[in-house]
Amino acid sequence: MNTSVVLKRRPAGKPVPEDFEVAESETPTPGVNEALVENLFISLDAGFRNWMDEDAGDDVLPAMALDHPVMGLTVSKVIQSNNPDLPVGQILMGRLAWQSHSIAGPDDFLVPLTTDDDVPLSYHLGILGDTGMSAYFGLKDIAQPQQGDTVVISAAAGAVGYVAGQIARIMGATNIVGFTSSAEKAEKLVNEVGYDAVINHATDDIDAKLAEYCPNGIDIYFDNVGGQILEHVLNHINEGARIPFCGAVADYTSTNPGPSNLFKLVTNSARIQGFMTHHNVDRYDEARDQLKDWLADGKLTCFEQQYEGVDSCGTAFSGLFAGKNFGKSVVKA
Ligand SMILES: NC(=O)c1ccc[n+]([C@@H]2O[C@H](COP(=O)([O-])OP(=O)(O)OC[C@H]3O[C@@H](n4cnc5c(N)ncnc54)[C@H](OP(=O)(O)O)[C@@H]3O)[C@@H](O)[C@H]2O)c1
Repeated sequence: MNTSVVLKRRPAGKPVPEDFEVAESETPTPGVNEALVENLFISLDAGFRNWMDEDAGDDVLPAMALDHPVMGLTVSKVIQSNNPDLPVGQILMGRLAWQSHSIAGPDDFLVPLTTDDDVPLSYHLGILGDTGMSAYFGLKDIAQPQQGDTVVISAAAGAVGYVAGQIARIMGATNIVGFTSSAEKAEKLVNEVGYDAVINHATDDIDAKLAEYCPNGIDIYFDNVGGQILEHVLNHINEGARIPFCGAVADYTSTNPGPSNLFKLVTNSARIQGFMTHHNVDRYDEARDQLKDWLADGKLTCFEQQYEGVDSCGTAFSGLFAGKNFGKSVVKA
């Protein structure tokens, strides 16, 4: 039997476990040019909330259908195949679904993985996957930290943010400030990840804290959140500031997204640039090799929170919007 977690109803704002339901069905049979894969790990990504709304379809993904398995990234193993490009035994990273088994076809986003190293497979969904590589591409291509720079990172304890903080340091930034929502996560970010200071966006006076922790202004803002935090940050940017715009998790669940002060970009000759990591698929080897080297050298540390069983996907995903996660959240299917 195949275990799936389906979208039972469209989340109203932040997702809750009741928006999802576990469903059992026959394990599917692959058709022409398709393969049956066993999903070994399933990634929980806040960004997929974006496609749970009814009219959310765009160039990246269609809107998710009710009562269908929720789309998500997986690390999977081919177990039956009618496609010579997907041989049995191949491990791959795919954009598939919250299921124990999925059908992978020629039109799916599938990236073959090499497994001849001692890297845990789940890392390919986190520090060596879409989130770790987002931190890498956003900093290397857009932010380009310089010695002495002050870097501010939102959702600093999330899967992208905790890696971005470490890479910013490796690349030479001097003052690294994060946003999170609890004292416990703030302490861990400073003591275990290496942030210089952390602002609690739920309880602190954000402008006062930005002025205190960034006395020389902000050179780089790695934005995962958008909304009101971006508005606060724009009031503190330096001339020539760079803003890699990685995601807008606050906007996915808000009917009133900010900011209202984009003119600050003009007056500071600053640059905000969005990017999609999967558009860099031809550079995945470059990113993964660099991230692996930093891991091997001890310059980069992995923080991962693992859940057990496909049926935990809905609860674990909802936790991303309730501030419960630290580092990368994955489900061992
Ligand atoms: N551009 C790309 O190719 C790409 C690839 C991957 C991810 N992304 C985007 O990058 C962002 C971060 O992803 P992730 O995987 O690191 O996220 P994550 O691990 O799921 O963490 C999300 C974090 O966002 C914070 N958050 C949630 N709602 C918020 C709100 N309303 N206001 C402020 N903070 C809020 C929470 O942290 P605290 O409780 O600690 O504040 C939460 O832990 C997302 O927007 C995602 O869509 C983009």
